[in-house]
Amino acid sequence: MPTLPQLKTAIEKRAPLLNDTEALRIFHGETEGDPRISIESFAGHLWVYEWETAQPRVDQGLLVQELRSLMEVKSISWNYRPRGGKAHDEAVAIDGTPPASVIVRELSSKYDIRFQQVRHAGLFLDHLPLRRWLENPPMKLGRVINTFSYTGSLSMAAMQGGAEFVTTLDLSRPTIDWARKNAELNGFPAEKMNFIFGDYFEWLPRLKKRGELFQTFIVDPPSFSRGDKKTFSTKTDLPALFDAAIEMLDPKGAYLIASVNSEFLTPEQFLRSIREAAARAKRSLQIVQELVADPVQFPNSNHLKGWIVRLRA
Ligand SMILES: C[S@@+](CC[C@H](N)C(=O)[O-])C[C@H]1O[C@@H](n2cnc3c(N)ncnc32)[C@H](O)[C@@H]1O
Repeated sequence: MPTLPQLKTAIEKRAPLLNDTEALRIFHGETEGDPRISIESFAGHLWVYEWETAQPRVDQGLLVQELRSLMEVKSISWNYRPRGGKAHDEAVAIDGTPPASVIVRELSSKYDIRFQQVRHAGLFLDHLPLRRWLENPPMKLGRVINTFSYTGSLSMAAMQGGAEFVTTLDLSRPTIDWARKNAELNGFPAEKMNFIFGDYFEWLPRLKKRGELFQTFIVDPPSFSRGDKKTFSTKTDLPALFDAAIEMLDPKGAYLIASVNSEFLTPEQFLRSIREAAARAKRSLQIVQELVADPVQFPNSNHLKGWIVRLRA
């Protein structure tokens, strides 16, 4: 359970981001005081995540009191995942009445953030630096595919960054519907976006058959997932993942943006996998940028590994 001084220090550190975003991780317990708790604020509606404890450690009354003494709080929802168990399907309201959803702004985009019937608010805040880059890319993004998209935040950023067309692909139907809703909120023209509900490894060959090529390919898988027909694991399947992606890249030059949230992989190992796939496909590779979790909201965190590279034949 974070102490009042820990919370105060953490909240004050986020001040430089307040002009950029209404969506903030205000306490990253892992490096700021309690490794099993993190707290996020969406325009004053808070999500508290607690996980991997034998039983809940949060003293709800005290936490509410402490947070209210430090910031304007509209509601607080708490989601708990016990050690070895599954996250609760629903967050529990521990203060006020959380709305079903609120619309918040991060950089130039709006996002639908949810508090009921979900395990997660709908926006991974660690990817703020990548969304910033996509909104202001050094070269045209061209045709973009965002795979393992979740609610499509990287697609929204790519649209803001002038992408010609954005395809968004995820294995979960509710998530793809959520991504479509985010696109509508931002008023993006429907004819410039396509949303696919399906498995990465089944859909890429279909897109290839249709002759699709992309100038920007985003791939951000979980460390493990179970599809209808097969499972995916970053331990064994990175070569297949990158081989499939590189086949879809415009040989004249394209960005490959790859990231993963895993404590079992170093950035160098992840880059090596990308390099090996590029070599198999006989493409040259130039590193554009390493990706890390936003250092203000996730201080000293090393879970997110990622690279933006440029490949050409
Ligand atoms: C780590 S999240 C991606 C986060 C996202 N890039 C963002 O920035 O919000 C992983 C997503 O991959 C999806 N997924 C898992 N296995 C998949 C597969 N085989 N094909 C497509 N999507 C998959 C999950 O449904 C989940 O939404």
